[in-house]
Amino acid sequence: MSEVGQAFAWQDPYFFVTYVNESVSNFQIEFVNYTREIMEHLVVGSFLYIFICIFSYFAVIRWKLLSFNKKIKNPKRVLIVTAHPDDECMFFGPTILNLTKQTDTTVYLMCLSTGKNYGMDVTRRKELYKACKVLGIKDSSIMVLNHDDLPDDIKTRWPEETVAALILHQIEIYDITALITFDRSGISSHPNHFSIYYAVAHLSVNKEIPKGCTVYVLESINVFRKYWFILDIPLSFLLSRTRYIVGPKDRVVIRDAMAQHKSQMVWFRKIYLVFSRYIVINTLQEMNTSDIELDLSIED
Ligand SMILES: *[C@@H]1O[C@H](CO)[C@@H](O)[C@H](O)[C@H]1NC(C)=O
Ligand SMILES: *[C@@H]1O[C@H](CO)[C@@H](O)[C@H](O)[C@H]1NC(C)=O
Repeated sequence: MSEVGQAFAWQDPYFFVTYVNESVSNFQIEFVNYTREIMEHLVVGSFLYIFICIFSYFAVIRWKLLSFNKKIKNPKRVLIVTAHPDDECMFFGPTILNLTKQTDTTVYLMCLSTGKNYGMDVTRRKELYKACKVLGIKDSSIMVLNHDDLPDDIKTRWPEETVAALILHQIEIYDITALITFDRSGISSHPNHFSIYYAVAHLSVNKEIPKGCTVYVLESINVFRKYWFILDIPLSFLLSRTRYIVGPKDRVVIRDAMAQHKSQMVWFRKIYLVFSRYIVINTLQEMNTSDIELDLSIED
């Protein structure tokens, strides 16, 4: 078409429609190509990420690499404080198994309630003893309380003074050197869980915890990381310094221990056991007095 013809063509409605149609289909092609490229990157990236996670898992478990780990200070007599029977398996498994395997460590468990199933406290207590046996905690090192002020209830915050007094008593009679419990988010923001944190935080700020005892909290992770199983390894390494990661054999032990809590094995807990990151990885943090002072001032 000559230049003159082209100039006229703009006034020709048919030419205009063709022109617009062409640019729309050009845009469509570009859009499809672009989307395909992004999808390809996502797929390749995901595979790479999964590969890195599996590789680092084996590096930690088989070849004992990547073990630049900050150990807990004096794990001679360790007290784990939980709220309900089965918390020890659901959340603290990797930590407990690591500690019970160390010959010069004694692990004590203090469970502050017998669980919600009213009339089942005898059953749940028995289940707890069986689960602890699987994890390697001796019967004589287990304390289960059944206190009227400490009901298993998702809406109840336990009175901190009561919890604090009970815990302090245990620390003193067993001459505990390290205490491990929930952090301020209590894994799932369960008030029974974080009541324990605030009770211990008060003890710590008031300098009532004996000098020889260091307090550690189990780090809560957000719900996106919670079901990522070993895919959480890179983040756990980046964000935490005290880590316990268990291999396939120990994962079976933790699942066996949890299976002792027969009254609790409903479908969603079974799913939890497959995907939960807490079944393979625990990360701990030393309780830091300046952090708690901030927490407590926000609380008050
Ligand atoms: C326990 O964890 C530490 C790292 O904190 C690790 O060096 C050690 O090998 C683990 N022990 C067992 C028996 O898994
Ligand atoms: C405690 O936390 C404060 C502020 O977050 C930090 O400056 C300090 O180094 C921490 N102390 C320990 C022992 O981690």
